[in-house]
Amino acid sequence: MPKTFFITTAIDYTNSPPHIGHAYEKVLADVIARYHRLKGDKVFFLTGVDQHGQKVQQSAAKAGVPPAEFVKEITQKFVDLWKKLDVYYDEWAETTSERHKKVVQGILQRLWDEKDPTTGESHWIYKAKQAGYYSVRQEQFLTDKERGPDGEFGPEWGQIEFREEENYYFRLSQHKDWLLSYIDNRKDAVIPDFRQTELRNAVEKLSGDLCISRPKSRLDWGIELPFDKDFVNYVWFDALTNYISFAGYDPRDGNYAKQPQEFRDRWSKDTLQIIGKDILVPAHGIYWPIMLHALDFPDEAMPQLLVHGWWNLGGAKMSKSAGNIVDPFTLIEKYGADALRYYLLSEIGTGGDADFSEERLVIRYNADLANSVGNLLNRTLTMVAKYQDNRIAFPQGDWLHNPDERSTESYAQHIFKQIGAYKSHMSEGRTLPITFPITFGPFVANAAIGNILAILDQANTLVESAAPWKLAKGLDKVSKVKLNSVLYALSETLRVVAILISPVLPAAAHGIFDQLKWKIELGGKEERFSLADAEWGKLPNGHVVGKPVPLFPRIES
Ligand code: ME8
Ligand code: MG
Repeated sequence: MPKTFFITTAIDYTNSPPHIGHAYEKVLADVIARYHRLKGDKVFFLTGVDQHGQKVQQSAAKAGVPPAEFVKEITQKFVDLWKKLDVYYDEWAETTSERHKKVVQGILQRLWDEKDPTTGESHWIYKAKQAGYYSVRQEQFLTDKERGPDGEFGPEWGQIEFREEENYYFRLSQHKDWLLSYIDNRKDAVIPDFRQTELRNAVEKLSGDLCISRPKSRLDWGIELPFDKDFVNYVWFDALTNYISFAGYDPRDGNYAKQPQEFRDRWSKDTLQIIGKDILVPAHGIYWPIMLHALDFPDEAMPQLLVHGWWNLGGAKMSKSAGNIVDPFTLIEKYGADALRYYLLSEIGTGGDADFSEERLVIRYNADLANSVGNLLNRTLTMVAKYQDNRIAFPQGDWLHNPDERSTESYAQHIFKQIGAYKSHMSEGRTLPITFPITFGPFVANAAIGNILAILDQANTLVESAAPWKLAKGLDKVSKVKLNSVLYALSETLRVVAILISPVLPAAAHGIFDQLKWKIELGGKEERFSLADAEWGKLPNGHVVGKPVPLFPRIES
């Protein structure tokens, strides 16, 4: 049975349209999902939108439309963006859907019903009165942390009043010791390491419980509590639940062990949740594992968290109110989806932050995509057309092999190996210098891209040193075999690079395969690429390649 790799991302708030920060997270997830599919793993990639809550209700009111209508419009923008960006997911989560509502209410009811037989009170949820200073503008209770140095609440909170409010609370703090032991027993619960340390420090300081309700009198855009219809569920509790409600979780019997097999295949410790650094503490690092623990998920079914950094603009946080949002639609329109995907993944180390610059995007596009990838494809196919009538030939015999190595490899293979330049891997059977999956393990997409660029650079350098245009003038047999070999090795390099780069540049990978006229019958389909095909010598002798078409035309500024 192939293992299922379950990959999720944060669901995006529909209080405003998507920006490039959202785009980055989905592309990162999509690349990891595509990489697993390339290896032949089963993948279940879930993403979606977070549609309830205060922020959405406020934005809808500002726009003068009912929240349901507002949410529909913004949701469509996210759906359109993922389509335009070639983000390919298996399931889509919308928190206003019936299916999700049923799971959220099912979970709440179950936690409410798990009662202590002597006191008759729920183990997990209790009702309590909170009294304190309340900001009407921000619709939240304020604590001493919010006080300025003068002891007063600043003007950003607007009108302050003293309020008393009853709400429902979920017991978090009594599970602090369990959470600490889970984190201590699992070194890679959170990637990168420094985020795990950050989480641990936060858990150490955990005190108090989580308010999981809002009185309908002040917020009604949410999921009603099944045991008290005067309240709706707090948006984070609702939103986090999406990860199981859209993965096949059955709320009728919440117990993990009794869940459908399909669900349990998805939920294991290999489940990867991709989130931004702002929502690790407390939501995904504290609330979520304790919620799962409350639902009897064993430690072996706790997801792993991959925490990415943020894209800023001019060193500052992007925000709608500051008016410095970078619109991904405009960038895709101008440069194409692959160019944006490439830029977002190559200019940030997973876990770190980066500053967005359209100028850098153009520089990387021209240097890497137009010059390295595009140029190699173009010059190779042009030479095959000009010198060999569009036909690549695999020269037989080992009589031209590198005399330094007592090898029986052909001259073509020898060149191919030089391009890859990772000899140690060549000795293991006929496998390729595939550094992509090797460095890809800990999610270092930018390093994997760097390795592929190195292969392309060596191929382009080899064109210069081998000088096919000179070989083409030679009338002897050696020149002819050398010419055949060089062009064959370059075509094979392109074929293999297309496979390796396909998670990052799906459209370009198809373009390379199309122009090589390789696996044409699978044009446009995911199955066209497989890591097993990334080995030497698959293009047949006498294969006819296509005409060169610019893959990444240079951008002149
Ligand atoms: O937090 N750079 O939604 P959201 C990189 N609905 N990533 C960024 C970013 C930036 N500039 N800005 C935001 C939410 N993100 C909740 C999640 S999950 C149950 C609910 C990332 O729209 C952010 O870190 O504010 C988060 O992972 C995702 O985009 C959605 O952010
Ligand atoms: Mg946010």
